[in-house]
Amino acid sequence: MRVFKGEVTALPPDKSISHRAALIGALSEGTTEITNFSGGFDNQSTLSVLQRAGIALSQEESVQLNGRTQRRVVIKSRGLWSFQPPAEPLMCNNSGSTMRMFAGILAAQPFRSELIGDSSLMKRPMKRVADPLRLMGADIELSSAGTAPIVINGTKELKPIAYRLPVPSAQVKSLVALAALHADGESRIIEQIRSRDHTEVMLGLESFEQNGERVIVVPGRKQIEAKPFYIPADPSAACFIVALGLLARGSEIMIRDVCLNPTRAAFLDILMAAGAGLRIENLRVIGGESLGDILVSSASRIEPLCISDPQLIAIAIDEIPMLAVLSAFATGRFELHNAAELRTKESDRIAALVVNLERLGFVCEQYPDGFVVTGRNQVPSGTVVLDSFDDHRIAMSFAIAGRATAGSFDITDIEVVGVSFPNFFELLDSLEV
Ligand code: S3P
Repeated sequence: MRVFKGEVTALPPDKSISHRAALIGALSEGTTEITNFSGGFDNQSTLSVLQRAGIALSQEESVQLNGRTQRRVVIKSRGLWSFQPPAEPLMCNNSGSTMRMFAGILAAQPFRSELIGDSSLMKRPMKRVADPLRLMGADIELSSAGTAPIVINGTKELKPIAYRLPVPSAQVKSLVALAALHADGESRIIEQIRSRDHTEVMLGLESFEQNGERVIVVPGRKQIEAKPFYIPADPSAACFIVALGLLARGSEIMIRDVCLNPTRAAFLDILMAAGAGLRIENLRVIGGESLGDILVSSASRIEPLCISDPQLIAIAIDEIPMLAVLSAFATGRFELHNAAELRTKESDRIAALVVNLERLGFVCEQYPDGFVVTGRNQVPSGTVVLDSFDDHRIAMSFAIAGRATAGSFDITDIEVVGVSFPNFFELLDSLEV
């Protein structure tokens, strides 16, 4: 067993909020200054796509008092229709958020554009993107499998929409909201199950409850004034450090300035309900987002996790791989239901978790919408080769288990961690006692 101690001030800036700050900046009139923008590959894909669609932006790194580098992005725009027809297809790499949310903006631009991605992104479902945009009057083409390339023949005459989300997806909600900002009238987006609400918070959209659903109101053709954004640390990245601290006995780690928006921090509630040694301190609000420090200690043992509530799953979706691996290693058990969406992420995360857990000797059974771990048959000797499936969260979940338990794992294409957490290994090294 290894021990990890210390204070984390260099967690990556939040990926979801970084994407939105850049896209909203490109839609705002004036100069948008974004402090602490993420250097992860996905967020850099959003910046490069914006530039190739005619948006003027700059990015600089500066060294802070604590020695860590911070990125500042400055975007200059004339508002909703400042984009230019791109010369070639826009490459979104591994970033589903870039592709989906930018599709909403491009649907409202009066030119033809095309969005493409890496081999993982080209397999992910995009009908959920095309459906609402077609209802708003945009001409959208997908492959016969309902995947990218997404070819968009945009129009300045988008119609407003009342749209009940068929899947609880913050990306779909956001792309409809970004398209609706250009529409000729007020739109409404209806959520049966809540998902992360950064887009609503950052655009200052009104919302209300009706018949147990949440209705978000998006004004049409309203110019947005540029405003500064500060990006807090990413709770999805914090989850890996939390799991490390819980798994490695004797550890104690303080993680600073983490976004604790309730639609992102559900993994902490799940862990606390299971008895994890976690304390939240220094809670405060900056730019409409809650922030706080997380103190994690391995002093108490956790109960096996059983996750099946669709609402909880929607707001802990990116943390489930780490929670599954943590629960398997800490208790020998784990159970998940109602999580079919996990099969549509950067990899089929249910299959990816089961393949790797089985290689590590765990006994698993897979269902269409989840899986169960019932125990561990054997602890394999020697180095175990695990497959990242080119998925950053799969790679990091198993890398944490390996570090905490001093297991020898050889994880394929491990550099994929850079999609959301470029300094992942550096940070683990700095915490190891
Ligand atoms: C995200 C929403 C989620 C999440 C993804 C980021 C976002 O995807 O899994 O990593 O920033 O809106 P879905 O909208 O597909 O659930």
